[in-house]
Amino acid sequence: MFVCSECGYQSIKWLGKCPVCSSWESFIEEQEVRPKNKKLSSSKYHPKLFRDIEESKAVRFPTGIREFDRILGGGLIEGEVVLIGGEPGVGKSTLLLQVAGSLSKAKKILYVSAEESPQQVSFRAKRLYADFGNLYIVGDDNVLNLYEYLKEYKFEIVLIDSIQVMHHPDIDSTRGSINQVRSCAEFLVRLAKTQNVTVVIIGHITKDGSLAGPKLLEHIVDCVLYFESELVSSYRILRTTKNRFGSTGEMAVFEMTSFGLKEVRNISDIFLPHKDNPVAGSAICCALEGLRPVLIELQALVSKSSFGMVRRRSVGFDFNRFSLLVATIEKRLKITLSTQDIFLNVAGGVRISDPAVDLAALCAIISSFKEKELEANSVFIGEVGLAGELRPVNNISLRLKEVERCGFKQCFVPHGNMNEIKGGKYPFKIVGLKSIEEVLKIIGG
Ligand code: TYD
Ligand code: MG
Repeated sequence: MFVCSECGYQSIKWLGKCPVCSSWESFIEEQEVRPKNKKLSSSKYHPKLFRDIEESKAVRFPTGIREFDRILGGGLIEGEVVLIGGEPGVGKSTLLLQVAGSLSKAKKILYVSAEESPQQVSFRAKRLYADFGNLYIVGDDNVLNLYEYLKEYKFEIVLIDSIQVMHHPDIDSTRGSINQVRSCAEFLVRLAKTQNVTVVIIGHITKDGSLAGPKLLEHIVDCVLYFESELVSSYRILRTTKNRFGSTGEMAVFEMTSFGLKEVRNISDIFLPHKDNPVAGSAICCALEGLRPVLIELQALVSKSSFGMVRRRSVGFDFNRFSLLVATIEKRLKITLSTQDIFLNVAGGVRISDPAVDLAALCAIISSFKEKELEANSVFIGEVGLAGELRPVNNISLRLKEVERCGFKQCFVPHGNMNEIKGGKYPFKIVGLKSIEEVLKIIGG
């Protein structure tokens, strides 16, 4: 059997390109073997009345790391399986150790370190200044042994670092192969659900997806968190892409310091380098990440192209949207950009997919083109349509609250949102705009 290492698609012959996820050279030969010993303990399965289950709700326990708890939906849950994915070196092990440190006063925890020796982990843990009261560590990679440890020590939480080096003895394939990863994960999920322990699994992903990706695991676990970072920045962003016990699309920001990860609670503050002293080509917007409003700065650089072909790049902003915006500016505002190189960047190394940042991107581009800075202390919110109209955005009052918190003086919003805002009292000026022609007037065209 040949299996796509990206999406798990199976084929009886080798394929160069996966017909499902379109990735190239991702097929690996695998032997279809399933674990022989499926039994853990069968006594636990008793059908219960559905009504009763609702009454005895799942027990949630906060880890004490506030931002981590928030994106989990309030903390970990008994019997939950959480996957933390990320590239090597982003700080997954550090985060897990800190979670362990914070929880170990109240809970009995097993840290399964299959990647590094317990000595290495303890050496690293010295930097974190945590008191690891009830934390046990084992350098074992045989997933079946975990059941024995659980029975003997009655652990409440098991942390796996990492799933790619865990090993299921009933499976012939090598560590990190799809069969191994899937079988180990299935075993861990069964362990969690039958023994009512919380399991947190670390999974590596690389840019080229050369290791059996956590993509495969996403279906099996309850909650998926992705840890990401820009290469140069010390900020780490943790996002939920799946959560059976909370909302998805949430994001938390951490800063990697020499004493481990530090929570960044006011993320708006770190993304706004030019709040009070505006520069040409910079505009501030309030985007929503999940249900969390974030103020971010969009930076544009427009300069005359010295080559025959103009260059267009966007970092952190969808390139297709960026192209549409540029075309809309040319067509509706009669500004000739066809000879200009245009670069657009979201400050702070975040990636934004909220369409409400369109207006700020447009203002940044025009501001850079005209070499004229936008008014200080202003925020621009709105989605730009192809006809040059400004379309209303969702959750406007949530965004305006954040604008208020950060002390801005005025905010431009789509006219369509004005009705919604009427009732609220905000200590700054709110200007409703219908089209990008009006925008041009305001920024001095
Ligand atoms: P690590 O948690 O080992 O990453 P992962 O498990 O995702 O591979 O952390 C990797 C980086 O973090 C490493 O380059 C060193 C750095 N780091 C710090 O800067 N400060 C610290 O206190 C710790 C523990 C690590
Ligand atoms: Mg690690």
